[in-house]
Amino acid sequence: MSPSPALEAALAEAAQEIDARFDALLAVPDDPRAGLYRAMRHAAIDGGKRLRPLLVFATAKLFACDRDCAARVAVALEAIHVYSLIHDDLPAMDNDDLRRGRPTVHKAFDEATAILAGDCLHALAFEVLADPATHPDPFVRAELVLDLARAAGPSGMAGGQMMDLEAERTTFDLVTVTRLQAMKTGALIAAAVEAGAILGRVPPEGRIRLRGYARDLGLAFQIVDDLLDVEGDEALAGKKLRKDAGAGKETFVSLLGVEPARERSRLLVDQAIEHLRNYGPEADLLRDIARFVLSRDH
Ligand code: IPE
Ligand code: IPE
Ligand code: MG
Ligand code: MG
Ligand code: MG
Repeated sequence: MSPSPALEAALAEAAQEIDARFDALLAVPDDPRAGLYRAMRHAAIDGGKRLRPLLVFATAKLFACDRDCAARVAVALEAIHVYSLIHDDLPAMDNDDLRRGRPTVHKAFDEATAILAGDCLHALAFEVLADPATHPDPFVRAELVLDLARAAGPSGMAGGQMMDLEAERTTFDLVTVTRLQAMKTGALIAAAVEAGAILGRVPPEGRIRLRGYARDLGLAFQIVDDLLDVEGDEALAGKKLRKDAGAGKETFVSLLGVEPARERSRLLVDQAIEHLRNYGPEADLLRDIARFVLSRDH
């Protein structure tokens, strides 16, 4: 199933917006840091599905948030994601040579530059969020920073990455793998949706359904990533596949098998959409994103 025309347009628009923002934020200086900036540009510009930025835009749209504010938040979320990919590909982690159809940063540059490029994108995300241009209300900015910090740290993405490394050495049960995935991938996806609600000044009780949507979507997303690792097309994915089993990594697919894992991802996407039942057509983009997560081939 290919993306709906509305989703296709929204993905293209998000990609263009994020590229333009990174281009402006990462102007290469004429000094010894030039390589660092080039490495960040190599990783951040022109590539990826831009799913997390799109989730920020789609959620912010529900609450009629200012587009420029949403774009700043979206680029911050993508900066954390790109940093996580640079570090995920390092020899000490997944040791991958290809990402988004290009050589990984440590291959195109070197390991030290890749580590620093990741560090700088991590810092850049919080610099952008804390900047008054992101939102006039300092409480809104502080909440954006707090939520993203939690999602990126030991209780979120980085903690999940640690568990993922352990998953190569230990036998994890389904409950533990679910927790691992929710942290490694789900936390940042949840932060993208939450950021839209924070920008929209939605009180916590008004965020429950969106959180349910994001939780189920995030899990479905990682199950599909694990399925693509088993049966995807490397040229389409732009990264090396068939690595998890070789590494002895416990995933939903290794624990359940391909078909039950696919069934679970379908169920989670249905559930994600069901959480949006009280929203009207204004949430159609979020619904389309959920369907896309299931049908994606890269
Ligand atoms: C890949 O994320 C890493 C995971 C969290 C599974 P994406 O599949 O969103 O990668 P890009 O951004 O499209 O390259
Ligand atoms: C990476 O998961 C998740 C993060 C970067 C946080 P994977 O290792 O499965 O992602 P790919 O398959 O390399 O994109
Ligand atoms: Mg990994
Ligand atoms: Mg990897
Ligand atoms: Mg993977």
